Amino acid sequence: MEKTGKIFVAGHRGLVGSAICRELQRQGYANLAVRTHAELDLTDSATVLDFFQQEKPEYVVLAAAKVGGILANDSYPADFIRENLKIQTSVIDASYRNGVKRLLFLGSSCIYPRLAPQPIKEEYLLTGPLEPTNRAYALAKIAGIEMCWSYNRQYGTKYLAAMPTNMYGPGDNFDLKGSHVLPALMRKVFEAKRAGEKKVVVWGTGKPRREFLYSDDLAEACVHLLNLPDSTYDSLLNRSDPPLINIGNGEDLTIRELAELVARIQDFDCELVFDPTMEDGTPRKLLDVSRIHELGWKAKVSLEEGIRRTFAAAESQLEFSAP
Ligand SMILES: NC(=O)c1ccc[n+]([C@@H]2O[C@H](COP(=O)([O-])OP(=O)(O)OC[C@H]3O[C@@H](n4cnc5c(N)ncnc54)[C@H](OP(=O)(O)O)[C@@H]3O)[C@@H](O)[C@H]2O)c1
Repeated sequence: MEKTGKIFVAGHRGLVGSAICRELQRQGYANLAVRTHAELDLTDSATVLDFFQQEKPEYVVLAAAKVGGILANDSYPADFIRENLKIQTSVIDASYRNGVKRLLFLGSSCIYPRLAPQPIKEEYLLTGPLEPTNRAYALAKIAGIEMCWSYNRQYGTKYLAAMPTNMYGPGDNFDLKGSHVLPALMRKVFEAKRAGEKKVVVWGTGKPRREFLYSDDLAEACVHLLNLPDSTYDSLLNRSDPPLINIGNGEDLTIRELAELVARIQDFDCELVFDPTMEDGTPRKLLDVSRIHELGWKAKVSLEEGIRRTFAAAESQLEFSAP
């Protein structure tokens, strides 16, 4: 990407989009086109097309989506499939109609079958049934991958789909009803310690294994992908399988171990009480990251360091006082 190239980061105020904007700016990309949700509703395809015609972005990072944890996904599946299909359809199609050079579509590791062999390789897509609690969301994301692939095949576009593992970092969603497992644990542990309580309730059995990636690491990976030389970038598209690439750090741990780590970082000696009436989700989700390692990118921030940084940012911004 040229340093002066215009880059539209959709979802620039979200966890992932904000980290990508910071990384782009850090690397000297100053020509960013961004709009808040209130300024540009990405589900409205006519307005999105107008925006593209006026702004003419050359590169697009699609990090806007309706995103949530297990409870939100399980409770509002219609919202998750409708909003995500509309957002990605509007943005991908407007990108094609306006000659965008490269587009990076962000999906999620929940696109893979619930019982996929571990670690999960890109080629396991559509080889088995999905996890039921987030099937609507996952199917929208799979449709987005298929759309990138179809546009590449039919129109010669260069759209790549990046599938990050579970993300966390500054600016995360700490709302206990809508958040992912790690920010929820951080908030619960923080508040229990402050309230002088001795017990922290953790949803599920604590047994599922999960992988976590710090948002700044993901941002670096995304910019790395957008910046690959033509021949390398094109080799990711000219395959007989979807233009898909996993992004993770290649290590996982149980939810129990994660909760223990969060408590240790807060220097809090508490009893963890597991609530098996809450859904566990997929038993294990660890991405195979050999493809992105071969392209010269590896995660840098350890889980402990990333959680410490996220606590520091959340405490300074009083994010735990949000509902
Ligand atoms: N968080 C994770 O653990 C994780 C893991 C893997 C992949 N991802 C992927 O990364 C992407 C971004 O996730 P995130 O965690 O950064 O989510 P996030 O923090 O909720 O950010 C999403 C952003 O999209 C915006 N948005 C939503 N609907 C919109 C609409 N109709 N029009 C305009 N903007 C809209 C939101 O704005 P408002 O808040 O104003 O609505 C928000 O700024 C998603 O595709 C997700 O699948 C996330």
